[in-house]
Amino acid sequence: MTRRLRVAVLSGGRSSEHEVSLESARSVAKALERMGHGVVVVAIDPEGRWSLGGSPAGAARLPGPEVAEALVGADVAFPVLHGPFGEDGTVQGLLELAGVAYVGSGVAASSLCMDKDLFKAVLRDAGIPVPRNETLRAGEESRTPGGFPVFVKPARLGSSVGISRADDEAELEAALALAFAHDDKVLVEELVDGVEVEVGVLGNDEPVASPVGEIVLPGEGWYDYEAKYSEGGMELVVPARIPGDAARRAQELAVRAFAAAECEGLARVDMFVRGDGEVLVNELNTMPGFTATSVYAKLFEAAGVPYEELLDRLLQLALARHERRGGLRY
Ligand SMILES: Nc1ncnc2c1ncn2[C@@H]1O[C@H](COP(=O)(O)OP(=O)(O)O)[C@@H](O)[C@H]1O
Ligand SMILES: [Mg+2]
Repeated sequence: MTRRLRVAVLSGGRSSEHEVSLESARSVAKALERMGHGVVVVAIDPEGRWSLGGSPAGAARLPGPEVAEALVGADVAFPVLHGPFGEDGTVQGLLELAGVAYVGSGVAASSLCMDKDLFKAVLRDAGIPVPRNETLRAGEESRTPGGFPVFVKPARLGSSVGISRADDEAELEAALALAFAHDDKVLVEELVDGVEVEVGVLGNDEPVASPVGEIVLPGEGWYDYEAKYSEGGMELVVPARIPGDAARRAQELAVRAFAAAECEGLARVDMFVRGDGEVLVNELNTMPGFTATSVYAKLFEAAGVPYEELLDRLLQLALARHERRGGLRY
């Protein structure tokens, strides 16, 4: 067990995943307190204003003196933030500038993995299979990677916000309009027909994979916002009901994707397993949902690592990286 630490838990944030972050952060803060750590919760409201739990002092989207003091005074920060302005390297950059140790991936890995287009390019280069896609910028003529159906998604978002399936040209136009309302870069991706699985990864230089979890939905649909966050919207089955070869392949690809993107600390790697057994990496979340009942925690619990031990390891990984990098000359 790590010695008693002062941990700054960052919660909320400007993205559409604000509420999800609040829940994860509450769960993390409570567990850290149970573990005997000193916790200060730094709240970022939906406008991006920082405060220590209460109402933000002023309208600036920067930490004021009170918050800055809490961050610099912490032994480690835990940015429990999802999506843009939190999981995308921006907050990680602020913590780097301030010299504060923090949980999770650094600036480059965070922003790379937030961008589904750049992320896939790096994976392709590493020989990791990913679904085929076309990437469109605002104003460009629409294209598909080879007919229909397709999935259309904003390049840099999460929680299925702005994503839709299109089965023909008319639906494609509507799907593009929706996605472009959230980002000026959009992916049009071939629909992969298969089982959706997720693998947790934990570590810095020697990352380990959790067992493979299978996302089971009650109906015919896909894993949309509703399925992710409503009661009974999704059931996680661990281990996934796929052949042993495919499960080992999913774990191998999860660790390879983590390393290729230069992630640190934790990640949840989401994949499809096709009927022919081929595994394709869909995306990597550098700060997955983090309540005690979130997929990431459940996957490691299945591996015999309970929530509090998971948090303990993440704090240790954050401190180890901070110490190692502190010895470098720039
Ligand atoms: N190429 C695809 N083929 C089939 N389903 C997809 C595809 N891309 C996305 N989906 C569905 O949409 C969901 C959300 O897409 P994802 O790329 O994971 O975005 P987010 O970052 O919002 O979670 C997936 O969990 C899956 O159910
Ligand atoms: Mg996803």
